[in-house]
Amino acid sequence: MVLANRNLVTIDDLSNAEIEAVFSLADEMSDAMDEQFGICQGKIMASLFFEPSTRTRLSFEAAMHRLGGRVISAVDIGATSLAKGESIADMARVVGSYADIIVIRHPWEGAAKVVADYAGIPVINAGDGSHEHPTQTLCDLYTIKKERQTIKGLKIALWGDLKHGRTAHSLTYALARFGATILFRPGPGLEIPEYVISKLNTEYDGELTRYEALDQTAKGGIFPLNAIYITPSSPHQLAMMPDISIQVELKTGVDAIYITRLQKERLPTTAKEQELKEDYPVVDKKLLSKKEFKKTLVMHPLPRVDELAYELDADPRSMYFKQAAQGVPVRMALTALLLGTKEISIPREEAAPFPKREYPTYRRDFGVRCSNPKCVAIQETETKYIKPEFQIVNDQPLTLRCAYCEHEVQPQYIASSDWHEGRLENKKYHSADSHWVRKIKSENLIIFDSESEAEAHGFKPSCYVRGRR
Ligand code: CP
Repeated sequence: MVLANRNLVTIDDLSNAEIEAVFSLADEMSDAMDEQFGICQGKIMASLFFEPSTRTRLSFEAAMHRLGGRVISAVDIGATSLAKGESIADMARVVGSYADIIVIRHPWEGAAKVVADYAGIPVINAGDGSHEHPTQTLCDLYTIKKERQTIKGLKIALWGDLKHGRTAHSLTYALARFGATILFRPGPGLEIPEYVISKLNTEYDGELTRYEALDQTAKGGIFPLNAIYITPSSPHQLAMMPDISIQVELKTGVDAIYITRLQKERLPTTAKEQELKEDYPVVDKKLLSKKEFKKTLVMHPLPRVDELAYELDADPRSMYFKQAAQGVPVRMALTALLLGTKEISIPREEAAPFPKREYPTYRRDFGVRCSNPKCVAIQETETKYIKPEFQIVNDQPLTLRCAYCEHEVQPQYIASSDWHEGRLENKKYHSADSHWVRKIKSENLIIFDSESEAEAHGFKPSCYVRGRR
């Protein structure tokens, strides 16, 4: 396996063995930083940051400089032709002809995939809206591994804004793949999104136990949490334990707390920020004085606001500045591997713990569209060339995962493009929960959001439309 010319759009673009290989090279490079100059000589990195960044942008640029490469950059959409209505695809094609690798941060979810689809050179997602931030996850995993040597079997708590925090989403997938137990403790109303939970269930086969009564757990227990995810690779007593026993189990210690800030820039205009701040989890000296946090690593992707006390900065358990510093060797290793200027042997995994699932693809320029308002695929400048594309991850109920932002939809109506005997009067649509969902071949499947849309395309309701039988 080689990494040259590959993209890193989601953390799942790298296998566990490939992630370990990036870490080995990062170790090698950080041990001899001054010897890396020249590895990327003659190469150009395009650093496109259309949202604020300190760590990701500057550590990527520092990484490229340390490798002897050069950097061209754009840090404001308003200073690029995107502001004139240029599409992301056109921008990607053009930048792909100027540079050898692109690092992109963009507010739209799925934007990095579009750049990867059109640039023709390796593309690294440096954060696409609330969706993913895979290189932050590499820094996070690298830090945990350096401190604990392994990730498998660790109990890792994810706290804070788990709804909008892209670092939490990428890290959740990676922890599941590496066999950690994840303890979710979101701020009220900031729970991990359903599409992330769904992917945990469909891709990693783990078991998620929810705790509806968060307040009760918070009051009665030592460790407030609203859900626990346990991977099948590490069968764990917790899976069988009722609430009270989980609290007892947690007394044996939590390996890491990963706290994130409230992502106020992603809140809808109707959100009441002050209310979300009340009961928002805070990590401070008082919390860490409890026995169960005696050896807990304190992690944060940074920037922090009010959720992580400055009084912890000198505490040996605090890892957040190490996470940020390790961004340079980790991103040096990744950049050199994707550019193919460095190779490293990557053992073929005997049995990948969670092999990538293949799903039928649904792709049409009419019918169902992604319902996520932040998805790149539904933005005005992009709909001229992006056809809505989904993976059909389930047929009972019919569930589509957007190929760009991974949000899921469960549309209600289906039809076949191969209508019976080709006769127009047989052009019928059906309920998605009827037997037709398995009868229609995937290449003929048409999926509608609404009856009016099906009718606008000339389809009439069949007797298999709910409420019309
Ligand atoms: N962790 C992180 O992505 O930081 P920046 O936003 O400063 O890049």
